[in-house]
Amino acid sequence: MADMASDRTADGTAGRAAAGKSAGPSGPATDEEGRAAARRRDLAVRAAVAQGLVGGAESGEPLVCLLDTAGIRASARALTGAFASALAPGTPVLHAFAVKAAPLVPVLRLLADEGIGCEVASPGELALARAAGVAPADTVLDSPAKTPAELREALALGIAVNVDNRQELERVDALVSAGPSRSPVGVRVNPQTGAGTIDALSTATATSKFGVPLRDPGARAWLVEAYLDRPWLTRLHAHSGSQGVPLALIAQGVRELHALAEEINAAAGRRQVDTLDIGGGLPVNFASDAATPTYAQYVAALREAVPALFDGGYGLVTEFGRSLLAKHGLILARVEYAKATGGRRIAVTHAGVQLATRTVYAPASWPLRILPYDPNGSPLTGPPLPQDIAGPACFAGDLLATARELPELSAGDLIGVPDTGAYFFTAHYGYNSLPRPAIHGFTVTAAGEVRFALARPAQSPASIVAEAGGDLRDALR
Ligand SMILES: Cc1ncc(COP(=O)(O)O)c(C=O)c1O
Repeated sequence: MADMASDRTADGTAGRAAAGKSAGPSGPATDEEGRAAARRRDLAVRAAVAQGLVGGAESGEPLVCLLDTAGIRASARALTGAFASALAPGTPVLHAFAVKAAPLVPVLRLLADEGIGCEVASPGELALARAAGVAPADTVLDSPAKTPAELREALALGIAVNVDNRQELERVDALVSAGPSRSPVGVRVNPQTGAGTIDALSTATATSKFGVPLRDPGARAWLVEAYLDRPWLTRLHAHSGSQGVPLALIAQGVRELHALAEEINAAAGRRQVDTLDIGGGLPVNFASDAATPTYAQYVAALREAVPALFDGGYGLVTEFGRSLLAKHGLILARVEYAKATGGRRIAVTHAGVQLATRTVYAPASWPLRILPYDPNGSPLTGPPLPQDIAGPACFAGDLLATARELPELSAGDLIGVPDTGAYFFTAHYGYNSLPRPAIHGFTVTAAGEVRFALARPAQSPASIVAEAGGDLRDALR
């Protein structure tokens, strides 16, 4: 029912308590979109309980994950729209979704319907893109550890390849001289423009493991020569952004990429490099529902740093992951027990390290909001009390939040963990053989009715056994 969507959402209390950094600039439009997304989310929580996707201690499911498909579509359109409105008319552009952010075939298909391809970084991700029906021409292969077999397959299929390093280029040399390929090929460079706030995700430091380091002695000259020697190298790639990297620093990496392309083309005396792959890396706001920074803000930062990027001289490829999916995912978990130990209040839930691995192991870098709901899925009210939100895994540090000010949680209540649509519940960690939960997409009709569609079934105990060598019981006897 539409009137369930009151102005106060479950975020009303939890948003204040989020330990995240500032969300950055958000205008009235992003704020209103965020409120609309929060209303859809609360309707979906109520409906998930009513429709038995999660709930009741006796027989109900303890855990489910939800994806707001209208939100994903809106993000896809914001991405394509932001670049389309800035680029010279007719400029070729491919937005390739970084599959690692949400490796789910129905998600890849939904994005493909919005005109978005796939960036893949493993044979598994390539298989997912192909299963979703994404064309080779809309697929890009990255990865710092491509095997000869992977390279051979990509070139045979006509998938774009970003070569990571000199040794890999020699492998590609051999394959190219063995037979022609339709694959556009480029080299990934590390512009070495600097780190963001999260070391483990910073790809453009002086010592990052990815790409050819542009500022290392001799590297730039080697790269220019490498292109002149290989007329089939027509692209250049950099991925300088990620969570914790400011837009201006990402844009600086793209400026370095553009300058290198100009240098190569000047040396070649023709437009040998015709396409720039600028990677992904737009950060996500984990502190509120505002989807900031926006693609439009990123495009504005790029226009400021490298205006020529948009003049049509180069085709563009982008590889966004997190920014397309994160805001649209919700973990919904039952509070199994609520207890007090040594003066510490602990809500033991079914959402922990298996779904939010980064948060559990690096809580300062990956703070998540916790949204409290009652057993019916209505936002929980009450005076805030500091509570730890624990997961189900058997180690003490399996915590999604500590001393979080929330209405007092009781057994049977639910917690929602928003912003988990990328790199969280789709990047399952198999600790304690905890099963991968079901993922349902949802849409909300104009009348407020919520419709769910299964996007990934829950992992059964039988499949856990099978994946753990169940058919090989006697193999080591
Ligand atoms: C080469 C490359 N492209 C794209 C991405 C996606 O980044 P994000 O999800 O931050 O947009 C990554 C992330 O690791 C990457 O390594």
